[in-house]
Amino acid sequence: MKVGIDLIHFATSDYFLGLDTFAKEKGTDVNKYLIGIGQEQMSIAPPDEDIVTLSAKAAAPILEQIDKQKITAVLFATESGVDQSKSAGAFLHGLLGLPKRCRVVEFKHACYAGTAALQMANTMVKANPKEKILVIAADIAKYDVDSSGEATQGCGAVAMLVKENPRILTIEPGSGYYTDDVMDFWRPNYRTTALVDGKYSTKVYLNSLKQAWEHFVEETDRHFDEIDAFCYHIPFSRMTEKAHKTLIKKVKADVSNEKFKEQTLAGQTYNRVVGNSYSASLFIGFCSFLDNAAQDLGNKRFGFFSYGSGCVAEFFSGIIQPGYQQHLMTASHQTQIQSRQALSYKEYLNFYHQADTDADNITFPRYNKGLFRLEAIRDHIRIYEKQAL
Ligand code: CAA
Repeated sequence: MKVGIDLIHFATSDYFLGLDTFAKEKGTDVNKYLIGIGQEQMSIAPPDEDIVTLSAKAAAPILEQIDKQKITAVLFATESGVDQSKSAGAFLHGLLGLPKRCRVVEFKHACYAGTAALQMANTMVKANPKEKILVIAADIAKYDVDSSGEATQGCGAVAMLVKENPRILTIEPGSGYYTDDVMDFWRPNYRTTALVDGKYSTKVYLNSLKQAWEHFVEETDRHFDEIDAFCYHIPFSRMTEKAHKTLIKKVKADVSNEKFKEQTLAGQTYNRVVGNSYSASLFIGFCSFLDNAAQDLGNKRFGFFSYGSGCVAEFFSGIIQPGYQQHLMTASHQTQIQSRQALSYKEYLNFYHQADTDADNITFPRYNKGLFRLEAIRDHIRIYEKQAL
Protein backbone atom coordinates (compact mmCIF):
# COMPACT_ATOMS: atom_id res chain seq x y z
CA MET A 1 0.00 0.00 0.00
CA LYS A 2 1.35 3.41 -1.01
CA VAL A 3 0.98 6.21 1.55
CA GLY A 4 2.56 9.64 1.67
CA ILE A 5 2.24 13.29 0.73
CA ASP A 6 -0.56 13.95 -1.71
CA LEU A 7 -0.36 17.77 -1.67
CA ILE A 8 2.08 20.16 0.00
CA HIS A 9 2.01 23.94 0.34
CA PHE A 10 3.85 26.40 2.55
CA ALA A 11 3.21 29.91 3.78
CA THR A 12 5.45 32.57 5.22
CA SER A 13 4.91 36.08 6.55
CA ASP A 14 4.46 39.26 4.51
CA TYR A 15 7.68 40.89 5.78
CA PHE A 16 11.40 40.20 5.79
CA LEU A 17 14.61 41.59 7.18
CA GLY A 18 17.51 41.52 4.73
CA LEU A 19 20.78 40.26 6.15
CA ASP A 20 22.44 43.19 4.36
CA THR A 21 20.39 45.55 6.57
CA PHE A 22 21.18 43.34 9.55
CA ALA A 23 24.94 43.35 8.79
CA LYS A 24 25.00 47.16 8.53
CA GLU A 25 23.24 47.50 11.87
CA LYS A 26 25.65 45.08 13.56
CA GLY A 27 28.78 46.38 11.82
CA THR A 28 29.50 42.89 10.45
CA ASP A 29 30.79 41.87 7.01
CA VAL A 30 27.64 40.81 5.10
CA ASN A 31 29.52 37.83 3.65
CA LYS A 32 29.45 36.22 7.07
CA TYR A 33 25.74 35.76 6.39
CA LEU A 34 25.61 35.40 2.60
CA ILE A 35 28.53 32.94 2.44
CA GLY A 36 29.39 31.90 6.01
CA ILE A 37 25.90 30.77 7.02
CA GLY A 38 24.32 30.94 3.57
CA GLN A 39 21.38 33.19 4.36
CA GLU A 40 20.10 36.32 2.58
CA GLN A 41 16.84 37.24 4.33
CA MET A 42 14.66 36.24 7.27
CA SER A 43 10.85 36.22 7.10
CA ILE A 44 9.57 38.24 10.04
CA ALA A 45 6.11 37.72 11.50
CA PRO A 46 4.25 40.90 12.51
CA PRO A 47 2.41 40.85 15.87
CA ASP A 48 -0.86 39.80 14.18
CA GLU A 49 0.73 36.70 12.63
CA ASP A 50 1.30 33.51 14.60
CA ILE A 51 1.58 29.78 13.88
CA VAL A 52 -2.20 29.50 13.58
CA THR A 53 -2.51 32.21 10.90
CA LEU A 54 0.59 30.93 9.09
CA SER A 55 -0.74 27.38 9.07
CA ALA A 56 -4.18 28.53 7.91
CA LYS A 57 -2.48 30.27 4.99
CA ALA A 58 -0.50 27.10 4.30
CA ALA A 59 -3.49 24.75 4.45
CA ALA A 60 -6.24 26.80 2.75
CA PRO A 61 -5.04 26.23 -0.86
CA ILE A 62 -4.87 22.46 -0.21
CA LEU A 63 -8.39 22.38 1.19
CA GLU A 64 -9.66 24.27 -1.88
CA GLN A 65 -8.63 21.27 -3.98
CA ILE A 66 -10.30 18.54 -1.94
CA ASP A 67 -13.49 17.86 -0.03
CA LYS A 68 -12.37 19.22 3.35
CA GLN A 69 -15.19 17.38 5.10
CA LYS A 70 -13.14 14.21 4.52
CA ILE A 71 -10.22 15.36 6.72
CA THR A 72 -10.06 12.86 9.60
CA ALA A 73 -7.23 14.35 11.68
CA VAL A 74 -5.04 17.44 12.03
CA LEU A 75 -1.58 16.64 13.39
CA PHE A 76 0.05 19.98 14.21
CA ALA A 77 3.79 20.14 14.88
CA THR A 78 5.24 23.24 16.49
CA GLU A 79 7.57 24.51 19.18
CA SER A 80 5.92 27.96 19.08
CA GLY A 81 2.69 26.84 20.76
CA VAL A 82 0.12 29.57 21.51
CA ASP A 83 -1.43 27.80 24.50
CA GLN A 84 -0.13 25.35 27.08
CA SER A 85 -3.35 23.34 26.97
CA LYS A 86 -5.37 23.87 23.79
CA SER A 87 -3.62 22.72 20.64
CA ALA A 88 -2.92 25.24 17.88
CA GLY A 89 -4.62 22.77 15.55
CA ALA A 90 -7.94 23.32 17.33
CA PHE A 91 -7.80 27.05 16.50
CA LEU A 92 -6.89 26.09 12.94
CA HIS A 93 -9.74 23.59 12.78
CA GLY A 94 -12.19 26.38 13.64
CA LEU A 95 -10.69 28.90 11.22
CA LEU A 96 -10.77 26.46 8.32
CA GLY A 97 -14.21 25.00 9.06
CA LEU A 98 -12.97 21.42 9.28
CA PRO A 99 -15.42 18.62 10.11
CA LYS A 100 -16.31 17.89 13.73
CA ARG A 101 -15.59 14.20 13.12
CA CYS A 102 -11.88 14.89 13.23
CA ARG A 103 -9.07 14.47 15.76
CA VAL A 104 -6.65 17.30 16.48
CA VAL A 105 -3.43 17.09 18.43
CA GLU A 106 -0.20 19.06 18.83
CA PHE A 107 3.24 17.48 18.47
CA LYS A 108 6.38 18.88 20.04
CA HIS A 109 10.00 18.12 19.89
CA ALA A 110 11.87 21.18 18.60
CA CYS A 111 12.41 21.03 14.82
CA TYR A 112 11.81 17.26 14.71
CA ALA A 113 8.06 17.25 15.45
CA GLY A 114 6.95 17.70 11.82
CA THR A 115 8.54 14.36 10.98
CA ALA A 116 6.91 12.71 14.00
CA ALA A 117 3.53 14.02 12.81
CA LEU A 118 4.17 12.89 9.24
CA GLN A 119 5.19 9.39 10.34
CA MET A 120 2.19 9.16 12.65
CA ALA A 121 -0.12 10.15 9.78
CA ASN A 122 1.59 7.58 7.55
CA THR A 123 0.95 4.88 10.14
CA MET A 124 -2.68 5.96 10.68
CA VAL A 125 -3.43 5.78 6.94
CA LYS A 126 -1.79 2.35 6.74
CA ALA A 127 -4.03 1.21 9.60
CA ASN A 128 -7.13 2.69 7.97
CA PRO A 129 -6.93 3.72 4.30
CA LYS A 130 -10.01 5.94 4.72
CA GLU A 131 -7.95 8.43 6.73
CA LYS A 132 -7.08 11.75 5.09
CA ILE A 133 -4.79 13.62 7.41
CA LEU A 134 -3.69 17.22 7.44
CA VAL A 135 -0.15 17.43 8.78
CA ILE A 136 1.04 20.89 9.76
CA ALA A 137 4.54 22.00 10.71
CA ALA A 138 4.70 25.66 11.71
CA ASP A 139 7.12 27.81 13.68
CA ILE A 140 8.39 31.30 14.30
CA ALA A 141 12.12 31.19 15.08
CA LYS A 142 13.12 33.84 17.62
CA TYR A 143 16.43 34.36 19.38
CA ASP A 144 17.57 37.19 21.64
CA VAL A 145 18.75 40.41 20.04
CA ASP A 146 22.55 40.34 19.64
CA SER A 147 22.73 36.58 20.24
CA SER A 148 24.55 34.25 17.82
CA GLY A 149 21.22 32.93 16.55
CA GLU A 150 19.69 36.33 15.72
CA ALA A 151 20.81 36.11 12.07
CA THR A 152 19.10 32.72 11.70
CA GLN A 153 15.53 33.68 12.60
CA GLY A 154 12.58 33.27 10.25
CA CYS A 155 9.10 31.81 10.11
CA GLY A 156 6.91 29.54 8.04
CA ALA A 157 4.28 26.85 8.01
CA VAL A 158 3.90 23.79 5.80
CA ALA A 159 0.65 21.93 5.25
CA MET A 160 0.70 18.37 3.88
CA LEU A 161 -2.20 16.16 2.95
CA VAL A 162 -1.30 12.57 3.82
CA LYS A 163 -3.35 9.79 2.24
CA GLU A 164 -3.34 6.56 0.29
CA ASN A 165 -2.02 6.70 -3.30
CA PRO A 166 -0.37 10.09 -2.88
CA ARG A 167 0.44 12.21 -5.91
CA ILE A 168 3.74 13.72 -4.70
CA LEU A 169 5.72 11.41 -2.40
CA THR A 170 5.31 7.87 -1.11
CA ILE A 171 7.03 7.33 2.22
CA GLU A 172 9.09 4.16 2.26
CA PRO A 173 8.92 1.72 5.17
CA GLY A 174 11.64 1.87 7.80
CA SER A 175 13.73 4.74 9.09
CA GLY A 176 16.73 5.40 11.31
CA TYR A 177 16.35 7.36 14.51
CA TYR A 178 18.38 8.70 17.40
CA THR A 179 17.69 10.45 20.72
CA ASP A 180 20.08 11.98 23.24
CA ASP A 181 19.25 14.17 26.25
CA VAL A 182 21.44 17.21 25.49
CA MET A 183 21.13 21.00 25.95
CA ASP A 184 22.12 22.46 22.60
CA PHE A 185 18.99 24.57 22.05
CA TRP A 186 15.92 25.00 24.25
CA ARG A 187 13.19 27.46 25.26
CA PRO A 188 11.91 27.37 28.84
CA ASN A 189 8.19 28.05 29.23
CA TYR A 190 8.75 31.57 30.57
CA ARG A 191 10.75 32.74 27.52
CA THR A 192 9.59 33.91 24.09
CA THR A 193 13.09 33.49 22.64
CA ALA A 194 15.16 30.33 22.37
CA LEU A 195 18.49 29.77 24.09
CA VAL A 196 21.21 28.08 22.11
CA ASP A 197 24.76 26.86 22.43
CA GLY A 198 25.35 27.56 18.74
CA LYS A 199 28.60 25.78 17.90
CA TYR A 200 27.72 22.82 20.11
CA SER A 201 24.31 22.54 18.40
CA THR A 202 25.93 22.11 14.99
CA LYS A 203 28.16 19.34 16.39
CA VAL A 204 25.19 17.53 17.95
CA TYR A 205 23.27 17.89 14.66
CA LEU A 206 26.11 16.28 12.67
CA ASN A 207 26.62 13.49 15.20
CA SER A 208 22.86 12.78 15.17
CA LEU A 209 22.97 12.58 11.38
CA LYS A 210 25.69 9.92 11.53
CA GLN A 211 23.81 7.95 14.18
CA ALA A 212 20.42 8.14 12.44
CA TRP A 213 22.02 7.22 9.11
CA GLU A 214 23.69 4.11 10.57
CA HIS A 215 20.36 2.98 11.97
CA PHE A 216 18.59 3.79 8.67
CA VAL A 217 20.98 1.54 6.73
CA GLU A 218 20.60 -1.27 9.28
CA GLU A 219 16.80 -1.01 9.19
CA THR A 220 16.24 -0.57 5.46
CA ASP A 221 19.35 -1.87 3.70
CA ARG A 222 19.15 1.25 1.50
CA HIS A 223 22.49 2.81 0.72
CA PHE A 224 23.87 6.25 -0.15
CA ASP A 225 24.19 5.57 -3.88
CA GLU A 226 20.51 4.49 -4.04
CA ILE A 227 19.37 7.96 -2.92
CA ASP A 228 19.08 10.63 -5.62
CA ALA A 229 18.51 13.73 -3.52
CA PHE A 230 18.85 14.77 0.11
CA CYS A 231 16.69 17.15 2.16
CA TYR A 232 18.19 18.10 5.50
CA HIS A 233 16.73 20.14 8.31
CA ILE A 234 17.94 23.65 7.45
CA PRO A 235 18.56 26.00 10.40
CA PHE A 236 20.66 28.01 7.91
CA SER A 237 21.44 26.79 4.43
CA ARG A 238 25.20 26.31 4.95
CA MET A 239 24.23 23.55 7.43
CA THR A 240 23.06 21.47 4.46
CA GLU A 241 26.55 21.61 3.00
CA LYS A 242 28.10 20.62 6.33
CA ALA A 243 25.59 17.77 6.73
CA HIS A 244 26.02 16.39 3.23
CA LYS A 245 29.83 16.53 3.50
CA THR A 246 29.61 14.68 6.81
CA LEU A 247 27.43 11.96 5.31
CA ILE A 248 29.65 11.59 2.24
CA LYS A 249 32.70 11.24 4.49
CA LYS A 250 30.93 8.68 6.64
CA VAL A 251 29.93 6.48 3.70
CA LYS A 252 33.24 7.14 1.91
CA ALA A 253 31.41 8.12 -1.29
CA ASP A 254 33.08 9.81 -4.24
CA VAL A 255 30.76 12.70 -5.16
CA SER A 256 31.76 15.36 -7.70
CA ASN A 257 30.94 19.04 -7.02
CA GLU A 258 28.30 18.90 -9.72
CA LYS A 259 26.67 15.81 -8.20
CA PHE A 260 26.85 17.39 -4.74
CA LYS A 261 24.88 20.38 -6.03
CA GLU A 262 22.39 18.17 -7.88
CA GLN A 263 21.78 16.22 -4.66
CA THR A 264 21.23 19.22 -2.38
CA LEU A 265 21.13 22.70 -3.92
CA ALA A 266 17.54 23.07 -5.14
CA GLY A 267 16.38 22.37 -1.59
CA GLN A 268 17.97 25.56 -0.26
CA THR A 269 16.48 28.25 -2.53
CA TYR A 270 13.51 29.12 -0.32
CA ASN A 271 15.22 28.59 3.03
CA ARG A 272 17.95 31.11 2.11
CA VAL A 273 15.31 33.85 2.09
CA VAL A 274 12.74 32.54 4.57
CA GLY A 275 15.25 31.71 7.32
CA ASN A 276 14.79 29.06 9.95
CA SER A 277 11.22 27.88 10.50
CA TYR A 278 12.17 25.09 12.92
CA SER A 279 9.70 22.19 12.42
CA ALA A 280 8.66 23.51 8.98
CA SER A 281 12.20 23.99 7.73
CA LEU A 282 12.81 20.46 6.40
CA PHE A 283 9.53 20.56 4.49
CA ILE A 284 10.02 24.06 3.09
CA GLY A 285 13.33 22.63 1.86
CA PHE A 286 11.40 19.79 0.23
CA CYS A 287 9.01 22.28 -1.46
CA SER A 288 12.06 24.20 -2.60
CA PHE A 289 13.57 21.07 -4.15
CA LEU A 290 10.37 20.15 -5.95
CA ASP A 291 9.82 23.68 -7.26
CA ASN A 292 13.41 24.50 -8.23
CA ALA A 293 15.03 21.26 -9.48
CA ALA A 294 16.16 21.48 -13.08
CA GLN A 295 15.44 17.82 -13.78
CA ASP A 296 12.27 15.70 -13.63
CA LEU A 297 12.27 14.13 -10.16
CA GLY A 298 9.63 11.48 -10.94
CA ASN A 299 10.61 8.06 -9.47
CA LYS A 300 13.65 9.58 -7.71
CA ARG A 301 14.38 8.51 -4.16
CA PHE A 302 14.72 11.34 -1.62
CA GLY A 303 16.48 10.98 1.73
CA PHE A 304 15.18 13.22 4.54
CA PHE A 305 17.12 14.09 7.67
CA SER A 306 15.02 15.60 10.42
CA TYR A 307 16.80 17.10 13.44
CA GLY A 308 15.28 18.56 16.58
CA SER A 309 17.62 19.95 19.19
CA GLY A 310 17.56 18.46 22.60
CA CYS A 311 17.80 16.06 20.64
CA VAL A 312 15.73 13.73 18.43
CA ALA A 313 16.67 12.89 14.84
CA GLU A 314 15.32 10.66 12.09
CA PHE A 315 16.46 9.69 8.61
CA PHE A 316 13.77 8.39 6.26
CA SER A 317 13.21 8.11 2.54
CA GLY A 318 10.49 8.39 -0.06
CA ILE A 319 9.86 8.12 -3.78
CA ILE A 320 8.67 11.08 -5.84
CA GLN A 321 5.59 10.12 -7.83
CA PRO A 322 5.59 10.46 -11.63
CA GLY A 323 3.50 13.46 -12.73
CA TYR A 324 4.05 15.20 -9.36
CA GLN A 325 4.70 18.48 -11.23
CA GLN A 326 0.99 18.91 -11.97
CA HIS A 327 0.22 19.09 -8.25
CA LEU A 328 2.87 21.56 -7.07
CA MET A 329 1.93 25.03 -5.82
CA THR A 330 5.09 26.70 -7.07
CA ALA A 331 3.45 29.96 -8.17
CA SER A 332 1.95 30.54 -4.72
CA HIS A 333 5.29 29.86 -3.00
CA GLN A 334 7.19 32.21 -5.28
CA THR A 335 4.60 34.97 -5.21
CA GLN A 336 4.53 34.97 -1.42
CA ILE A 337 8.29 35.28 -1.20
CA GLN A 338 8.55 37.94 -3.88
CA SER A 339 5.73 40.09 -2.55
CA ARG A 340 7.10 40.34 1.01
CA GLN A 341 7.90 43.85 2.21
CA ALA A 342 11.39 44.75 3.48
CA LEU A 343 11.72 45.99 7.06
CA SER A 344 14.26 48.32 8.60
CA TYR A 345 16.11 46.96 11.63
CA LYS A 346 13.95 49.17 13.89
CA GLU A 347 10.71 47.92 12.31
CA TYR A 348 11.91 44.33 12.78
CA LEU A 349 12.54 45.04 16.48
CA ASN A 350 9.03 46.45 16.84
CA PHE A 351 7.48 43.44 15.16
CA TYR A 352 9.53 40.72 16.75
CA HIS A 353 10.77 41.83 20.09
CA GLN A 354 8.07 44.09 21.49
CA ALA A 355 7.26 43.22 25.06
CA ASP A 356 3.46 43.44 25.17
CA THR A 357 2.34 40.65 22.80
CA ASP A 358 1.58 38.41 25.77
CA ALA A 359 -0.77 40.95 27.35
CA ASP A 360 -4.17 39.71 28.50
CA ASN A 361 -6.05 42.33 26.49
CA ILE A 362 -4.61 43.67 23.30
CA THR A 363 -5.89 44.62 19.86
CA PHE A 364 -3.28 44.19 17.16
CA PRO A 365 -2.72 46.79 14.44
CA ARG A 366 -3.34 45.36 10.98
CA TYR A 367 0.01 44.36 9.44
CA ASN A 368 -0.73 40.81 8.29
CA LYS A 369 -1.95 41.04 4.69
CA GLY A 370 -3.10 37.42 4.43
CA LEU A 371 -6.54 35.89 4.64
CA PHE A 372 -6.14 34.99 8.30
CA ARG A 373 -4.88 37.19 11.12
CA LEU A 374 -4.73 37.39 14.89
CA GLU A 375 -7.02 40.32 15.65
CA ALA A 376 -6.83 40.54 19.42
CA ILE A 377 -6.40 38.81 22.74
CA ARG A 378 -9.42 39.50 24.96
CA ASP A 379 -9.65 38.16 28.50
CA HIS A 380 -6.83 35.73 27.64
CA ILE A 381 -8.72 34.44 24.57
CA ARG A 382 -7.09 34.64 21.13
CA ILE A 383 -9.46 36.11 18.54
CA TYR A 384 -8.67 35.21 14.94
CA GLU A 385 -10.10 36.92 11.90
CA LYS A 386 -10.72 35.46 8.47
CA GLN A 387 -10.56 38.39 6.10
CA ALA A 388 -12.89 38.77 3.15
CA LEU A 389 -11.13 38.22 -0.18
N1 CAA B 1 32.97 35.82 4.78
C1 CAA B 1 32.74 34.50 4.60
N2 CAA B 1 32.54 33.63 5.64
C2 CAA B 1 32.58 34.14 6.89
C3 CAA B 1 32.82 35.52 7.14
C4 CAA B 1 33.03 36.37 6.01
N3 CAA B 1 33.25 37.66 6.17
N4 CAA B 1 32.79 35.70 8.47
C5 CAA B 1 32.53 34.49 9.04
N5 CAA B 1 32.43 33.57 8.09
C6 CAA B 1 32.14 32.13 8.25
C7 CAA B 1 32.90 31.51 9.41
O1 CAA B 1 34.20 31.11 9.03
C8 CAA B 1 31.99 30.34 9.75
O2 CAA B 1 32.22 29.32 8.81
P1 CAA B 1 32.40 27.79 9.32
O3 CAA B 1 31.06 27.39 9.87
O4 CAA B 1 32.75 27.05 8.06
O5 CAA B 1 33.45 27.79 10.37
C9 CAA B 1 30.59 30.88 9.45
O6 CAA B 1 30.77 32.03 8.63
C10 CAA B 1 29.84 31.34 10.71
O7 CAA B 1 30.66 32.23 11.38
P2 CAA B 1 30.85 32.10 12.95
O8 CAA B 1 31.13 30.66 13.29
O9 CAA B 1 31.79 33.12 13.43
O10 CAA B 1 29.37 32.49 13.36
P3 CAA B 1 28.68 32.59 14.75
O11 CAA B 1 29.44 31.85 15.80
O12 CAA B 1 28.34 33.99 15.01
O13 CAA B 1 27.31 31.84 14.45
C11 CAA B 1 26.13 29.78 14.66
C12 CAA B 1 27.19 30.55 13.88
C13 CAA B 1 26.69 29.42 16.03
C14 CAA B 1 25.73 28.52 13.91
C15 CAA B 1 24.90 30.72 14.83
O14 CAA B 1 24.34 31.03 13.59
C16 CAA B 1 23.83 30.15 15.73
O15 CAA B 1 23.93 30.16 16.96
N6 CAA B 1 22.71 29.67 15.12
C17 CAA B 1 21.58 29.14 15.87
C18 CAA B 1 21.78 27.68 16.21
C19 CAA B 1 21.68 26.78 15.01
O16 CAA B 1 21.08 27.10 14.01
N7 CAA B 1 22.28 25.59 15.13
C20 CAA B 1 22.23 24.61 14.05
C21 CAA B 1 22.17 23.20 14.59
S1 CAA B 1 20.81 23.02 15.74
C22 CAA B 1 19.43 22.87 14.72
O17 CAA B 1 19.56 22.64 13.55
C23 CAA B 1 18.09 23.08 15.32
C24 CAA B 1 17.60 24.44 15.00
O18 CAA B 1 16.91 24.64 14.01
C25 CAA B 1 17.96 25.54 15.88
